[in-house]
Amino acid sequence: MTDPAPDRDADSVVEAVFDAVAETAPEIRAALPGRRVESGTENASGESVMAGDLYADELLGDAITAVDGVGSFVSEERETAVDAGGAVGEGAYAVAIDPLDGSSNLRSNNAMGTVVGVYDAPLPATGRDLVAAGYVLYGPITTMVVADEGGVREEVIEQDTDGSVSRSVVEEDLTLPDDPLVYGFGGRVPDWPDAFTAYAREIEDELKLRYGGAMVGDVNQVLTYGGIFAYPALVDAPEGKLRLSFEANPIAYIVEAAGGAATDGETDILDVEPEGVHDRVPLYVGNEGLVERLETALD
Ligand code: AHG
Ligand code: MN
Ligand code: MN
Repeated sequence: MTDPAPDRDADSVVEAVFDAVAETAPEIRAALPGRRVESGTENASGESVMAGDLYADELLGDAITAVDGVGSFVSEERETAVDAGGAVGEGAYAVAIDPLDGSSNLRSNNAMGTVVGVYDAPLPATGRDLVAAGYVLYGPITTMVVADEGGVREEVIEQDTDGSVSRSVVEEDLTLPDDPLVYGFGGRVPDWPDAFTAYAREIEDELKLRYGGAMVGDVNQVLTYGGIFAYPALVDAPEGKLRLSFEANPIAYIVEAAGGAATDGETDILDVEPEGVHDRVPLYVGNEGLVERLETALD
């Protein structure tokens, strides 16, 4: 197998992918008011799909597969990978997305996002094959966090009156604050394994609860204020809820690049070997000390 194209090609493909994602963000945001209902279909994870999920998936799928250098496209809303031309790992890249993360927040008008991972290996792959990752956060402001070999930056995405979309870097070097402030734990408390419940009780006495039901919004709070986000292994769902390829891996890549840590309870998320592109994994991510305490608690 020939070596993948030199890194500089990775940089240009990564930049083009996040240009495409940024370009699409205002259109997705503008379409949400009319797409707050269930589509009546289920996705590969067996979860009901909102009209907003499908629309975001369609727009992002078209935009990302059109990028020169993207060879394969995986989405939460599609059973299998879409061939976008070009041999992944031999100069082309695979992109995995969660087109609309936290879409259950559509009805309650709370934060949602889009998650993106750019891999230089065919999917399913481990997070070590990521060359970049990022997320769009549809909050009061539309922001995009992008992590690549150069570090982690935050951008504001705006659409000008002439319809053109701008990306403005507002934070060059996003790093996790040393002193943690917030936590957010998913799932229902009765479904938490005892060891996690004991850990959560400690954390509740130390940090402030910030859980909004969309991973992107909750992780953005951890990145901003320091702390820990978890969608834990549950008694009746030991694999947790979040998908490795397009939720846990990109978030782990971003938070680790910002100085934090991410685990499935035992192993660094980026080392988890998936069998399929929709594999679920427990996710605990944030300040290193809090993640280490979690791994000890679950030991
Ligand atoms: P998605 O909308 O892409 O399926 O993701 C929803 C996920 C994640 O965003 C969030 O952390 C979690 O589901 C919330 O789950 P609960 O509703 O069980 O809290
Ligand atoms: Mn999601
Ligand atoms: Mn989603």
